[in-house]
Amino acid sequence: MARPPADNGVLGAAPDTDGLTVTVAVGSSLFDDRFGLANRRPASLTPMRVFRNDRPESAWTGGDLLIQICANHADTVHRAVREILRATRENMQILWRIRGFGSPPRPEGTPRNLMGFKDGTGNPQGADAQSLIWLDHDVSQPWTVGGTFVVVRLIRMFTEFWDRISINEQERIFGRRRDSGAPLDGNAEFDTPDYAADPKGFAVPADAHIRLANPRTPETARQRLIRRSYNYDLGVDDNGNLQSGHIFVCFQQNIQQQFETVQSRLDGEPLEDYVQPFGGGYFFVLPGIRTSSDWLGRGML
Ligand code: HEM
Repeated sequence: MARPPADNGVLGAAPDTDGLTVTVAVGSSLFDDRFGLANRRPASLTPMRVFRNDRPESAWTGGDLLIQICANHADTVHRAVREILRATRENMQILWRIRGFGSPPRPEGTPRNLMGFKDGTGNPQGADAQSLIWLDHDVSQPWTVGGTFVVVRLIRMFTEFWDRISINEQERIFGRRRDSGAPLDGNAEFDTPDYAADPKGFAVPADAHIRLANPRTPETARQRLIRRSYNYDLGVDDNGNLQSGHIFVCFQQNIQQQFETVQSRLDGEPLEDYVQPFGGGYFFVLPGIRTSSDWLGRGML
């Protein structure tokens, strides 16, 4: 099959870089027998585990590669997709694709998810975050040093249902104030909740999302992860309900010790009545290119 010419100018003249980034990660299925990579699989990279509230749809789950394309405008992202498809025509087929978007900060600071709450407040920062993300040693697969694991979860929100409950109930489900983002035992967004001072959960309920996700104890400190989620909007379903929600994206050194441990604690949380995970997968983000003759995934061969 002939490849498309290099210069057929898809979509006309090239735009400015527009903040374009392309992140490439590999799924566990890449390490089955098809490509001779079976002995290169990173230990933590398994097929995505199915949790209690999950209804995985094969049309939205898994894949050998995950390509996350970000830019300031949807037009730039679309263009990048087309260029990548042209160049990989004989070798790659899209399994699923979802368009994410962020919210402008309202009134300021942290962006909000489609339930109206600030999302990202509790993320570890700086050197703390770095030490939870990057693989700095992995004796079983030395080629993975410098990479990180990413978990993507496509989570539908039942927004019409959510919009019918009181703000008080919504805040108790997350454990934070909707408007300021402050924990329910604090005053400002970045106040640290003090669960030890409130073991019965009078202020921040014991089953609040933030309390289950991060109990803030010494034993759970290395289970923390870094979230970088987006909103999605797929229109309307057959019943006239909005098909929109959360593209949950989190980065970590070890999927079982971080994402799966946190998700297991969240199993059965009150938020489950308003959300439904239906797709996504586990992937390993390839270590970056180090020299001009290097390429992504080189260490894996
Ligand atoms: C915190 C929303 C799914 C892990 C939060 C917060 C919100 C939120 C509003 C508080 C603000 C913040 O710290 O960012 C949601 C929604 C979800 C969802 C709407 C699904 C539709 C998940 C999942 C996980 C997770 C699947 C991991 C398995 C966390 C963690 C925190 C957090 C670790 C920070 C807790 C802290 O350090 O205090 N989430 N989340 N979330 N969420 Fe979620």
